[in-house]
Amino acid sequence: MTLDAEARAILAGNDRGGYTVPTAGLYPYQWNWDSVFAAIGFAEHDRARAWAEIETLFSGQWPNGMVPHILFHKVDPSYFPGPDVWGGIGPVPSSGISQPPIAATFIRCLFEQDRALGAAHLRGLIPRLRDWHRWFLQWRGEGGAICVSHPWETGRDNTPDWDAPFAAIEPVGVEEYRRRDTSHVVEDERPRAYDYDRYLYLVKLGRESGWDEAHIKAVSPFRVADPTMTFTLLRANRDLLALSREAGEPTDEIERWIAEIEAGAEQLWNPDIGAYDCLDIRTGQHSGVISNASFLPWYAGLRDDRMLAHFTRIRGLTRFSVPSTDPAHPAYEPRRYWRGPVWAMMNMLIAMGLDEAGHGDLAADLRQNTAELIATGGFAEYFDPRDGSPAGGRNFTWTAAVWLAWASPTTEKSTCPASS
Ligand code: GLC
Repeated sequence: MTLDAEARAILAGNDRGGYTVPTAGLYPYQWNWDSVFAAIGFAEHDRARAWAEIETLFSGQWPNGMVPHILFHKVDPSYFPGPDVWGGIGPVPSSGISQPPIAATFIRCLFEQDRALGAAHLRGLIPRLRDWHRWFLQWRGEGGAICVSHPWETGRDNTPDWDAPFAAIEPVGVEEYRRRDTSHVVEDERPRAYDYDRYLYLVKLGRESGWDEAHIKAVSPFRVADPTMTFTLLRANRDLLALSREAGEPTDEIERWIAEIEAGAEQLWNPDIGAYDCLDIRTGQHSGVISNASFLPWYAGLRDDRMLAHFTRIRGLTRFSVPSTDPAHPAYEPRRYWRGPVWAMMNMLIAMGLDEAGHGDLAADLRQNTAELIATGGFAEYFDPRDGSPAGGRNFTWTAAVWLAWASPTTEKSTCPASS
């Protein structure tokens, strides 16, 4: 079977009818940003199915605008923590936190691929996107830098960015629990028990408040401004602005958000290491970690090449790029989830940005490198940067999707438009 055919078979195999699971067993539900990648994968051969994926995701939107990070459409005991632990309060059983808002950006791609088909879908989705983005500014905004209330919200669950804020958390009152992830994947490739205790402590805090954002913002020990959220939301607002103009929808509010985040993103610049990283709002401390998310300012549409030297330095350190943590950082672990491995979907976002910022050569190199990575390690969840060996889950939806939409040599060019 060719890799293209294999990728399509993975999407079909993970399709649960209107939504796609990231991979059977380890992640048996609908995840927010995974679904957006799934949609652009489907769009290569089935555009109607791509729109359905997005619409199922937004069917779980909460009345306050939040679009959850997991929708538990059908209870499956192979995953923990499930719907009862989260106690989500939306129309579909769900988690109580969100995930990086890349939907507007890729909805725009779908629209550009087929405007006639897209127009009908846009009408319903634009107000939903606006409500979701407004929720971020209202509850996660700190002077235009976008925070998270839980590490899982960034999609970079156990990055060393959380090590300092986590050290200050005493996870008291967490009931006994049994993890399921380590029965699917070897422990060395997953977060430690220490991290899980703190993840569950923060879930409990949210659930017990009835997911009252004002309360969580006031009392949670964990409030960290993050490059994934800040840069994806900035980019998403630019794309939402373009879509809103197209559809004759209001734009003033969106223009204000863009200006606010453009200015606020500078708070994530850490002069000590000359790089973007995380900022702990509770302590005012930067994390001091250069992660793959540090390379998203180009994707955000910022005219800012200050990360270029780090990019070329890190690109030269391992055979496969971009490692999720700088290999020169003492916390780097090449096989442990977000503490070192390469994630193909992050590479796609980084390369989209590089391309649009006039660094087409670097974008092409990263695409080629990602294609080699997938040819070497298969459609894994993530990969060891040293040799491309697979890690985490297998038959993974977003790796298959970014192969089809971007990395595959048969994909002529990315179908995604520039952010201007
Ligand atoms: C992990 C990842 C997150 C992803 C989810 C499902 O939690 O860190 O980014 O969305 O798995 O694949």
